[in-house]
Amino acid sequence: FMSQWVYTPVVKDHFMNPRNTWQEEENFQADGIGEVGSLSCGDQMQVMIKVDNDTISDLRWLTYGCASAIASTSMMSEMAIGMSLHDAYHLTPDKITEALGGLPEHKFHCSVLGDKALRAAIDDYLEKAGRENPFKNSVA
Ligand code: FES
Ligand code: FES
Repeated sequence: FMSQWVYTPVVKDHFMNPRNTWQEEENFQADGIGEVGSLSCGDQMQVMIKVDNDTISDLRWLTYGCASAIASTSMMSEMAIGMSLHDAYHLTPDKITEALGGLPEHKFHCSVLGDKALRAAIDDYLEKAGRENPFKNSVA
């Protein structure tokens, strides 16, 4: 029975105790907001960032996605806080999935939601700041 369980302990931990989720009562003042949807499942993801000195100083997220989306975005949030905008923009699903100890292959599309929304939030921040986006064409 246990060998049927496809999620690693790290995935389970992040799913059961997701980090940096958005709480309405906190009144999080975002500098950039990114929202994306998944074509394959119809789920949605929103990522909000605070930026200080071209570094992600804080981040919140919320999703209507599945367990894999929740776990990978929770992990993404821990990795992204403290990163430069450049490094955060290049945070790939591979790196997030690796930190989780792996995800079932058919769940890969869930793991891209968080980092896509993170890039959208960085795009939004730079646009609002009236700045050129040096990263825009650097990620497929
Ligand atoms: Fe939609 Fe995982 S099935 S995010
Ligand atoms: Fe990162 Fe060009 S390599 S923006």
